[in-house]
Amino acid sequence: MNDNKNVLICIGTRPEAIKMAPVYFKFLKSGYNTKLCVTAQHRDLLDQVLEFFKMKPDFDLNLMTPNQTLNKLSSRILEEIDKIFIEHKIDLVLVHGDTTTSSVIALAAFNRKIKVAHVEAGLRTYNKWSPFPEEMNRQLTGRLADFHFAPGRSASQNLLKEGVASNTILVTGNTVIDALKMTGEILDQGFNTPVIESLKEAVNFDKKIVLVTGHRRENFGEGFESICNALVEISKDNGVEIVFPVHLNPNVQEVVYKRLSNVSNVHLVAPLDYPTFIWLMKKAHLIISDSGGVQEEAPTFGVPVLVTRSVTERQEGVDAGCSFLVGTDQDLIVSKAQQILSKTKQINTVINPYGDGDASQKIIDFLKNTSW
Ligand code: UD1
Ligand code: UDP
Repeated sequence: MNDNKNVLICIGTRPEAIKMAPVYFKFLKSGYNTKLCVTAQHRDLLDQVLEFFKMKPDFDLNLMTPNQTLNKLSSRILEEIDKIFIEHKIDLVLVHGDTTTSSVIALAAFNRKIKVAHVEAGLRTYNKWSPFPEEMNRQLTGRLADFHFAPGRSASQNLLKEGVASNTILVTGNTVIDALKMTGEILDQGFNTPVIESLKEAVNFDKKIVLVTGHRRENFGEGFESICNALVEISKDNGVEIVFPVHLNPNVQEVVYKRLSNVSNVHLVAPLDYPTFIWLMKKAHLIISDSGGVQEEAPTFGVPVLVTRSVTERQEGVDAGCSFLVGTDQDLIVSKAQQILSKTKQINTVINPYGDGDASQKIIDFLKNTSW
């Protein structure tokens, strides 16, 4: 059904590229006339992923500017995407998650009466300011979407409570697990890179590895200061090596490099390409992160995550004992980290509560069997 229709898959940031890669490859084989558009809300971080998965954008809006404001970015996306909609007679747009790219493209599609499918739909904190602006981006995209691919039951329940018609919602699991499967197969074939080699030289992997990431806007300033202070405390344990790939957002870079550059067992590195990051995640004893994607991936490797946020829309991991909400409270981060680091055994989970790795197949099957 719907063959010969024009489908546009739109992504802008690193996590969208990772999570949409498996969906994109399914669509390429689907019989739809599928095109890939990158807004390049991220540039280097996005390109790392495109290169690894060998995804070739048909349209690259190249919109990233240093320290871009959300409104400037939004206005440029609206203007540029509209040209593609008109010229290529798009029938269906697929967007992902909660970024500015997703919500603005969903709005632009609605204005042109183009159908919108939302991947990773229905996650909610119902706190407008946390995560900011992602919670509202996701709610807005949900209002505009025609098809909702919910990563889990609770996301689907949220949508139903908001009045979304049940026959437009499908629970798929999270496509991040599909991506992990694709990557796992590559890593199993003896994957190696110069970055992995240089990590092996710089970091003592006989010690307990703490992997850290952070980029949330609501943590800028005091929150990041507090996280850095906690890391200094944790680093006083001689048996620990901390590896921190620092997000390229200047608000993150400034604080992190100022505060942690001179701590010998804290390794500040450039954002890692995705397979290298997964390689490192597998070696970690503990992860400290505010990332959505990392919360979803870590249970696959049985690595606990301290979530440096006050709320999470990914409650499944907390309920399963895989992740722990610690906010940016220095003492809480330190005490919970020390508790986990004092044990040799990590969590036992082998079943990842976020998906089975077949989400992208479910998405394509649903769209093939639905008229639009
Ligand atoms: C964005 C998303 C967030 C997502 C995150 C994933 C929004 C509002 N935010 O946050 O939902 O969780 O990506 O990482 O959509 N930069 C570079 N090079 C890059 C990427 C970013 O230099 O490749 C710097 C630029 O100065 C840019 C700044 O980071 O202006 C912020 O980028 P932006 O996409 O606005 O926000 P993120 O914090 O990355
Ligand atoms: N990631 C990566 N390199 C890094 C840090 C993270 O490839 O140095 C991957 C990680 O495996 C996950 C995704 O990026 O799939 C998460 O992206 P991010 O934390 O930027 O965004 P969020 O998931 O919070 O939206």
